[in-house]
Parts: sequence; structure tokens; C-alpha cells
Amino acid sequence: MLTESSDVSPAAHEYILQAKQEWEHTFDAVTDLIFILDPDCTIIRANRAMAERCGLTPQELIGRKCFDVLHGITCPPEYCPHDRLLESGEPQTVEFETEQLHGIFEVFMSPMRNAEGRITASVHVARDVTEKRHNAKLLAAQQKQLESFNQDLESRITEAVAELRKKDDILIQQSRLTAMGDLINSIAHHWRQPLNSIGLIVQSLQLAFKSNDLSVEELDAEIADTMSILQQISDTIDDFRTFFNHEKEPHSFSVNDAVSRSINFVMPSLKNNGIKAVSDEQSDMCVVGYPNEYTQALLNIIINARDALMESQMPEPLISIRIFEEKGRSVVTVLDNGGGINEDALPRIFDPYFTTKEQGKGSGIGLYMAKMIIEKNMNGRLTARNVDGGAEFRIEV
Ligand SMILES: Nc1ncnc2c1ncn2[C@@H]1O[C@H](COP(=O)(O)OP(=O)(O)OP(=O)(O)O)[C@@H](O)[C@H]1O
Ligand SMILES: [Mg+2]
Repeated sequence: MLTESSDVSPAAHEYILQAKQEWEHTFDAVTDLIFILDPDCTIIRANRAMAERCGLTPQELIGRKCFDVLHGITCPPEYCPHDRLLESGEPQTVEFETEQLHGIFEVFMSPMRNAEGRITASVHVARDVTEKRHNAKLLAAQQKQLESFNQDLESRITEAVAELRKKDDILIQQSRLTAMGDLINSIAHHWRQPLNSIGLIVQSLQLAFKSNDLSVEELDAEIADTMSILQQISDTIDDFRTFFNHEKEPHSFSVNDAVSRSINFVMPSLKNNGIKAVSDEQSDMCVVGYPNEYTQALLNIIINARDALMESQMPEPLISIRIFEEKGRSVVTVLDNGGGINEDALPRIFDPYFTTKEQGKGSGIGLYMAKMIIEKNMNGRLTARNVDGGAEFRIEV
């Protein structure tokens, strides 16, 4: 305590007093709680913020034990950071929650030493981190909630994608069944001629046998012919049957083969309707993908061209197919002279269930399926445009 009887001059005394007041003001202006403890845990100084937080004046705090004020207990807690500071001589940092001061505090303690280096007191600066910790807790809880929401969303997306795949598979199957009518016609046509041939052979055998004009060599030759015709029929069945096989894994196949196969499937129906189909093969490329699905996409496009030609009743109906290579990719274009796609319809032709055909004649999934097969399953591109007098579809894989 500074008294008038000190050895200092009145001016120096005045100066020191002023400095002391300034320092006390500073001490009290700090919003953190500051208090100084002697080695026995007795509060020897406290700033205004600390006192106010305890509901006391700074003077009332002086002489109280810190564990009493902070924790409402009668002796130091088992792990007293103040003890640790005295033992180690090192500054300490602790965080604790106290009911007495209604909050969570982060406390920084520094030792105060006398001239000999002995610790005579420790300064405690306690910062109220209640809101910060509550916010962190809230944030962590919200983050957890967000994570579980994300997980939930992810699994719902996976389910939705799986569901869509299933629907796409059903559509592919449905579209194949739509083409079935054409294929059955085609089988009937493919079989008519060989069955006629077999019929003729059997009749000629019967005639020759009755007129005793059948040598063993002739019999063997006729049987060999019949067997080869039967083989043709059997090949046709295999061809149609493999078309309906579900392809699990992509593999390499010839684009030209796929094009011939699809033309072959619809040829009878084209012929019946007087439609000419020409194909110009400028290259034979192998691509990796699903040959049946690719054939199906082509089939849908060719069947559409046929339908447009039948509807438009154009003279000399023609479907021209070109196969060529462009920038290392295989390109197949299917062009008809059926008058083209209605300009209003053009942007929507690849939408599922979009059709301009009358009820019962089209379901509107043919081109949607074709697009899915080429673009989703085979990473290719399927586009359509109107050219002079007709529509042109372009498949790029
Ligand atoms: N070559 C074409 N010329 C003119 N219009 C076409 C041609 N190809 C497709 N379209 C138009 O695109 C529409 C959609 O074709 P898409 O194949 O998806 O369905 P659809 O042929 O109507 O029915 P389906 O599902 O039985 O194939 C057709 O209804 C038709 O209006
Ligand atoms: Mg169609």
C-alpha cells in the first residue's frame, strides 16, 4: 500500500498513485475473469469481471479460497491445476464447468515469482467459453444429423437408381416384345422357302420311289440337301433365340454383322410393303458392347423408317444404311425418304412414351430404348435430324 510517509517526493508519489489507478482500471476493464491466488489457494486479488460473475465485490472475494468460490467445495479438488503449477513451475491451462459461475471456463494460469525466483502467487485468467462450447456441440450434432441425412439420401439414391435400372430392363424387354410381331413374320418368311424346298424334295422322292427310279446315290443326295435346308432353319431359330438372350457382360462385336442381322430380321416386312433397303458398308469395325441390344436399337430405327414410309405412301420407298468410320468411332446412319419427322415432334422423339402413332400402333418407347442402349449402355451417341425428304438417324459408338 502506498502512503504519504514514503521516501518518495510528492510528485513521484502522485505519479505512482496515478499509475496504480490506471493499472487497476485496466485490470477491471478486462472482460475475462482475472484473479490472483497465493500458494494456499487464497484469492489475493480479483478484477471486477470476476467479482461480478461471483455476485460479490472484488473486496469480498479477497481472502476466500478459490475452490470454495469456483467449485463450492471445502478443500482443493484431487487434480488441482494450481497445485500442478506450484509443483511444476510451469503455466497451466484447464477447462472446467462450474455451477457456481454458471458456465464453462477456459483458465490460463501463470506463476508469479519473487526476486529469488520462488513462486509467490499465480495469475488466473478465466475466459467464459460456454457459448463457444455449446455452439460446437450444436454444430457437431447438426453435422452428425447432416451425415446421417446424407447417408440416408445416398442409400435412397442407390435404391432409386436400382429401381430405374429395373424399369429400364423391363422397358428393354417390353421393346423387344414389341419387335416380336415383326420377328415372327420374319421367321415365317425365313422358313417358308426352305419348307417349300423340303416339300418338293419329299414329293420328288416319293415319285421316283413309286416309279422305281430312285438310286441309292440320288436318295443320299436328296437327304443331304434336306439336311442342309434343315440346318438353315435351325440357324434361323438360333439367330432369333440369341437375340432374346440377356447379355450380362459387354464384348466385342462386328457392327456390320449387327446391321445385317437387323436388316435380315425386318427384310420380309420391308419386302411385303415394297420398301427397298440398301446398305453401304465402307468399313467393318468391331466395337465393345451388347450386340443384341445394339441390333435392337437399329431394329427400332429401321421399323420406324418402315412405318413412316408406309404412312407417307411415298413412291419408291427407300431405307439407306451407311456404315463408316469417323475419328476412330463406328458410325451407322439410317436414312429414309418418308417425309421426315414433324418439326414439333423432333425434340421429343427420344422421350419415353412419346408417339405420334395411333393408339395400339406405337407405345413410344422404341427410340427412348434405342437412345438408352446406345448412350447409357454403350457410351455412344444417337441423334436424329430431318434431311431432304426424310429422317436420318445416326448411331455413333
Ligand atoms: N423415320 C421416322 N420418320 C418420321 N417420324 C419418325 C421416324 N422415326 C421416329 N419418328 C417419330 O418418333 C416417334 C417416336 O418413335 P418411337 O420409336 O420412340 O415410338 P413409336 O414408334 O411411336 O412406338 P414404338 O414404341 O412401338 O416404337 C414416332 O411416333 C414418330 O412420330
Ligand atoms: Mg418405334
